[in-house]
Amino acid sequence: MAFNGKILTITGGSGGIGTAVAKRFTDAGGTVLLLGRSEEKGRATEKACGPGATFIRCDVSNADDVANVFEMIDAEYGGIDFAVNNAGVTTPYVSLDKVEVSDWRKVLSINLDGVFYAMKHQLPMLIRRQGSAIVNVSSCAGVVPIPMQAAYVASKSAVNALTRATALEYATESGGLFPVRINAVAPGPTLGGMNTPERLAAHPQNTERKRNSTAMRRFGTPDEIVNVIEWLLSDKSSFVTGQVISPDGGYNAGKIL
Ligand SMILES: NC(=O)c1ccc[n+]([C@@H]2O[C@H](COP(=O)([O-])OP(=O)(O)OC[C@H]3O[C@@H](n4cnc5c(N)ncnc54)[C@H](OP(=O)(O)O)[C@@H]3O)[C@@H](O)[C@H]2O)c1
Repeated sequence: MAFNGKILTITGGSGGIGTAVAKRFTDAGGTVLLLGRSEEKGRATEKACGPGATFIRCDVSNADDVANVFEMIDAEYGGIDFAVNNAGVTTPYVSLDKVEVSDWRKVLSINLDGVFYAMKHQLPMLIRRQGSAIVNVSSCAGVVPIPMQAAYVASKSAVNALTRATALEYATESGGLFPVRINAVAPGPTLGGMNTPERLAAHPQNTERKRNSTAMRRFGTPDEIVNVIEWLLSDKSSFVTGQVISPDGGYNAGKIL
């Protein structure tokens, strides 16, 4: 892959899918800036990815934090070529009348506001670079809703809409500045990250339900999600923008009877 010498920011780079993206990118010779809250997790990921990765503390739900971090990145790295906006959280499984207002706010502020804050500061840098691209990490639940996760579903559906709307705005060259391709991936249930072996074992019914929500009756692996993200960042997808692509084992192909 032609990521040699390119710079990628990834939010939530110290989790399952994010770490797999970071590793793939540094293995291909790129520089990865890992944005996350936990210094401990971030430093461990930085080490696992080798000298191409640098951890930067950033809470994506804090507008000032995100603005300051991207200002620093522009000053120190002279811009970026790619961005993967991946940080995301879920809430306890409850029906809407039981959703705590604080949980609603938390999910929306990380999963949706966080993507907006990041893109707002990434785009002025990305339009300076030819062949630049953003991939937002949504969810299969943002394409076909699931019950008991209304905040998560609402946040990820909104990320899909935000992705499409913004793709329209940045699809063409203008005033010597370059287009930016903006797409989303909507993974199905994926191992690692939110689905660690411990969590899967602790909630066997949920685990079965998630597995059976896919036509393939299995979880995906982080690498299977990264394959799609890598393609969306690369110029092999040079005519693709404003799409929500679903590496989901057939989750949204139709109803499984
Ligand atoms: N795993 C799945 O089955 C699945 C399926 C569909 C979609 N997804 C989506 O894929 C993305 C990654 O999920 P994952 O399973 O890999 O989960 P994960 O391991 O829990 O990763 C989430 C990452 O987000 C970061 N994060 C959370 N809140 C943050 C904040 N306020 N600011 C900055 N970083 C923050 C976490 O880092 P810190 O703890 O350091 O903040 C962590 O690195 C999420 O958007 C998720 O919704 C996952």
